[in-house]
Order: sequence, then C-alpha cells, then structure tokens
Amino acid sequence: MTVTLTVNGEQRSARAEARALLSDFLRHELGLTGTHVSCEQGVCGSCTVLVDGEPVRSCLMLAVQADRCRLETVEGLADGGELGPLQEAMLAEGGLQCGFCTPGVLMSLTYADRAGLSGTEAVDEVLTGHLCRCTGYQGIRAAIERHWQGKDTPR
Ligand code: FES
Ligand code: FES
Repeated sequence: MTVTLTVNGEQRSARAEARALLSDFLRHELGLTGTHVSCEQGVCGSCTVLVDGEPVRSCLMLAVQADRCRLETVEGLADGGELGPLQEAMLAEGGLQCGFCTPGVLMSLTYADRAGLSGTEAVDEVLTGHLCRCTGYQGIRAAIERHWQGKDTPR
C-alpha cells in the first residue's frame, strides 16, 4: 500500500509492503538513514523516532501503522547546516564516539525537552531506553545536563 506521512514537516508518500518495518521504510524508501537500526528487538533504542510527538522504536512499528502520522527523525533537528542545541551540547561534551546510538538518544532527549523534564531522574529515565557501547554514558549525561542548564556550547 501507499503510506503517506509527514516527516520533519514535509509530506512524503512511498509504497510499503504490509510487513515492512517503519525503520526500514524510513531508511530505504524515504532515504532518511539518520535513523539507525541495530537490535531490531526494541532493546537498544537506536531506531527511536517521534511519532505524533511520542518516542517510538521504529523497529517495532510497521510502516503502514504510520500512515497519516507526523514523524520526526534526527534529520529534522538541524536547521540546514546548523546543528540544533541538543546536537551542539552532545558535540561540546563528547557525548558520542561512533555515533551509532546518537540519533535515537537525541530523539528521546527532544521528547524530554518538550515534556519539560529535567534533573538526574529524568536523565536516568531517558538513558534507560538507550544502549551505548562507546561512551560509558558520562559524555551523554554531561551533554544533557549542559543543555538543560542552558550553558553556552562553544566548540
Ligand atoms: S533497532 Fe530498534 S530498538 Fe534496537
Ligand atoms: S557512541 Fe557508539 S554506541 Fe553510543
């Protein structure tokens, strides 16, 4: 069937098999390869996107279920060539190494930001849903705190 949705403010349509995962649809049909796929079991969080404002594991959702939904992916966080504030904070604090987990982490953080979450418990809550093999989480934690404290983020 044809799936029509809004991604990062732009209406897109593409064909999807009934069994196609949303993660694969985003990457292969829409060319939005910023959404990463690792475990495909809903464990690692790397495929997290926002669907109608809610964080969703896109490897656990069918593309056809996203028909007529509003999606946000990591590609929507930057403004042209300019990184968004969360991305700047990650960069400033060394919150990534290989970067594989980063798009999913950023989307969960975007949700937390909008929900008005802050503080250590909120940081823990966000990171609970994401596996990072590289950073030991300290850089990510520092980036979140930097962002929530509204510090400047010089490179
Ligand atoms: S690839 Fe979706 S949670 Fe790991
Ligand atoms: S930066 Fe490599 S998995 Fe998180």
